[in-house]
Amino acid sequence: MTSAADPVRYHLVRLVGGLSAPLRDTVGGLVDRPGKLVRSRLLTACAEFGRPDAGRVARLGAVVELVHLASLVHDDVIDRAAIRRGGPAVHRAAGPELAVLAGLACLSAAGMEAADLGEGVATAVSRTVAELAHGELLDVERGFDTGLPLPDYVDLVRRKTGVLFRLCCLLGAVESGVDSAAVAALAEFGVEWGIAFQVLDDCLDLEAAGDDKPAGTDHLLGLFGAPTLAALRRDTTGELHRLLLTPSFSGGDLPRVRELVTAHGGLRAARTLADVHFGRALAALGRTPDGPARRALVRMLEASRP
Ligand code: FPP
Ligand code: MG
Repeated sequence: MTSAADPVRYHLVRLVGGLSAPLRDTVGGLVDRPGKLVRSRLLTACAEFGRPDAGRVARLGAVVELVHLASLVHDDVIDRAAIRRGGPAVHRAAGPELAVLAGLACLSAAGMEAADLGEGVATAVSRTVAELAHGELLDVERGFDTGLPLPDYVDLVRRKTGVLFRLCCLLGAVESGVDSAAVAALAEFGVEWGIAFQVLDDCLDLEAAGDDKPAGTDHLLGLFGAPTLAALRRDTTGELHRLLLTPSFSGGDLPRVRELVTAHGGLRAARTLADVHFGRALAALGRTPDGPARRALVRMLEASRP
């Protein structure tokens, strides 16, 4: 685990560094590969509506990144994922027992830091973690469900991903000192962006191998995202449905899945769904004070759109 110049990463390293050696070392690789730090950047950008205490903002950023890290460690156990952020998933390198325990320890470190930052912070973080767990449960339950209605999928994505984006915006907004109407608007901005973000992430499973994991990983687990769910509703021949539920379904079937989903307009429909939620996020931003902070958030959001 290397120390970092960036203040959020500095606190992330500090928090994980306080764990006992075996637990700390188990997640060291992920701390060294922190990803794009989207969530802490979002928190920091929301705090810019006021004149926040930079030290507190960096510590809050580390809290949300650590909750995110813990959720990924557990998610990779549940998803039996091999790769995370271009390296082996924690449970592949250390085994599932250590992965689960190290994830828990990270969550505890985030919780203690949150409590030190204030009772409201600790409550908001704990509430979010419970919702994430509910979202993940819904994700597990939908395995091999080719008939999952899109509104149910959106509800799942809201809980699995949207609520953490919401937390980031909420914590940043409160630090900025904006009024309660603007806090609520920023929270809504966060949840809507989070939904759009996850819908686009689900598109990647069909489009290309990303840095994070090979394409098709979700489909092989029976987790069908927005493009495939939309395509299934339009597939009058039933071929896509039959293919996805074939007991011998394997990586070799993925190119045909991609063809069918594209032919039935699934990827287009998913991008339209993401656009709906990007639009709602921007509408919520319209209820925040005009100025450089709002414009910076618009730029961040636009940069994340394909
Ligand atoms: C990634 O989804 C997973 C999440 C967004 C949420 C994971 C939540 C839990 C495991 C609940 C427990 C929470 C904590 C804080 C320990 P994905 O599998 O669609 O994305 P991926 O492609 O990046 O794996
Ligand atoms: Mg996963």
